[in-house]
Amino acid sequence: MKQGLFITLEGPEGAGKTTNRDYLAARLRAHGAAVVLSREPGGTPLAEQIRELLLAPSDESMAADTELLLVFAARAQHLARVIRPALERGAVVLCDRFTDATYAYQGGGRGLAQDRIALLERFVQNELRPDLTLLFDLPVEIGLERAAARGRLDRFEQEGKVFFDAVRSAYLERARHAPERYRILDAAQPLAMVQESIEALLPELLARLHG
Ligand SMILES: Nc1ncnc2c1ncn2[C@@H]1O[C@H](COP(=O)(O)OP(=O)(O)O)[C@@H](O)[C@H]1O
Ligand SMILES: [Mg+2]
Repeated sequence: MKQGLFITLEGPEGAGKTTNRDYLAARLRAHGAAVVLSREPGGTPLAEQIRELLLAPSDESMAADTELLLVFAARAQHLARVIRPALERGAVVLCDRFTDATYAYQGGGRGLAQDRIALLERFVQNELRPDLTLLFDLPVEIGLERAAARGRLDRFEQEGKVFFDAVRSAYLERARHAPERYRILDAAQPLAMVQESIEALLPELLARLHG
């Protein structure tokens, strides 16, 4: 029986997912919640090795299906070893990216059909879906600038504006189709304003955790 709360943070490179994940964790902990922080692809030593395969630039171009299967292989490990056990303990799991990113990157970006992704989603997750997804939305150029300022670009960050426009559209499309699960945050705002929006979500999150 799932008891905790599964919250995912989504959006493109440089949107502020990691920064705000850590902020939200601190705020939830201040209210006494047990919080587990994680990220995808990755979240366990084995899944982090798969992450390296996914992100490393390589001379051999990776087939889109290979990319998709690696993402879900890492996710199966992460679910089995970290996410499901934490939820069973009643913790809040804050995960930097999850399956919405697969729909956005491998679906929108790479052009893989949604129903192929949905097939693997059911295979790997059964009924498990995030309780809430914070979508950090911002113009592609701003995100790429922030990501570039971090240094060497990974295999995804090396993609261009067309790819990231498709990623952004896919995210927004998913949020439009299930508005009860998503909260869209304007990630182009100054960080203090994004954090105010997160602060405003706290009562709802704590109520859902304890209710
Ligand atoms: N709202 C914001 N305004 C300006 N800079 C931001 C904002 N949010 C995050 N940043 C900065 O942008 C960079 C990327 O943020 P990060 O949280 O790592 O994004 P992500 O995890 O989504 O890739 C960091 O240097 C961070 O300090
Ligand atoms: Mg990050």
